[in-house]
Amino acid sequence: DVQMMNRVKEIKSVLGDRLFIPGHHYQKDEVIQFADATGDSLQLAKISASAQEAEYIVFCGVHFMAETADILTSNAQKVILPDLRAGCSMADMANIHQLERAWSVIQEQFGDTVIPLTYVNSTAAIKAFCGRHGGATLTSSNAEPMLKWAFSQKARVLFLPDQHLGRNTAAKMGIALEDMVVWNPIRNVFEGDAVHHLETSRVILWKGHCSVHEKFTVANIEACREEDPNITILVHPECPYEVVTHADISGSTQKIIETIKQAPDGSSWAIGTEMNLVNRLRQAYPKKHIRSLNPNMCPCLTMNRIDLPHLLWSLEAVLQEQPINIVQVDEAIATEALQAIERMFSA
Ligand code: 13P
Ligand code: SF4
Repeated sequence: DVQMMNRVKEIKSVLGDRLFIPGHHYQKDEVIQFADATGDSLQLAKISASAQEAEYIVFCGVHFMAETADILTSNAQKVILPDLRAGCSMADMANIHQLERAWSVIQEQFGDTVIPLTYVNSTAAIKAFCGRHGGATLTSSNAEPMLKWAFSQKARVLFLPDQHLGRNTAAKMGIALEDMVVWNPIRNVFEGDAVHHLETSRVILWKGHCSVHEKFTVANIEACREEDPNITILVHPECPYEVVTHADISGSTQKIIETIKQAPDGSSWAIGTEMNLVNRLRQAYPKKHIRSLNPNMCPCLTMNRIDLPHLLWSLEAVLQEQPINIVQVDEAIATEALQAIERMFSA
């Protein structure tokens, strides 16, 4: 490992400004130590867009983030994902064929009253669809203003692919749960008794979720509070509605970090988000009592596919000027996806 770390340092110093390594907060310590910038999804999108001098962007995150970086950078810049299997199970829950199919039912039902909004945790093709239909992207740190913006455009919002972020954000804005309906993309129907609410519905939630954040439960919260009545529960808004409403605070990974940074020494926290971030916060603030909300820790297996050997392997290839694992979005899709992303930046 020491040998590998030294080699990464060596390659980084040889390549200098030609190389830029963004790292998401969920990445492992062995990887994040080499990141030139760390951030949540929104910050990493902005940082990638501004890294204009870098010929190679070796993205330590998951596939949709690398796609977004490619969309936001020039054609001359190459975006590399150290392991192409580092996808996102949530992004995989919405494919463009399902969306086209859903859209025709939605159009039939609601006419031209719906605007599509997609969480950045989605494929470039889904983002392009949103761009093409007047919609936008959003992240967990701007979900509320983006939903407000969407309602300034149309009476209804199709929110995809994360039903939980959609429901949590809409509820926070005062929209009643009865005014949200769930679309099942596998069966191509509205879920449950939604048909009775279609007329009054304002938000159509795509039935997708994050397999990591769905593992946090109300029972976990109760167990933590029983053990320590002074504990504060801090969760990511990809957690289910009941968990977010029972928690004390919810927010993006960046908000979680800021909250812990400002917390007084001696305070107790149970955090409902990916394991690497929770562990890192615990190490960084030993005087604060920090634990995972779920004792099983909850790793994001796909984020974890980016490890030191894969990082080094991709950097060696860059050094040889023979880059591997390039993520390149089709130009027509990239152009429309960019519209959706730019609407987010300027909303
Ligand atoms: P943020 O970093 O934007 O909060 O996103 C969390 C996440 O799940 C990334 O995949
Ligand atoms: Fe996707 Fe969830 Fe992993 Fe984020 S934590 S990359 S949403 S599976």
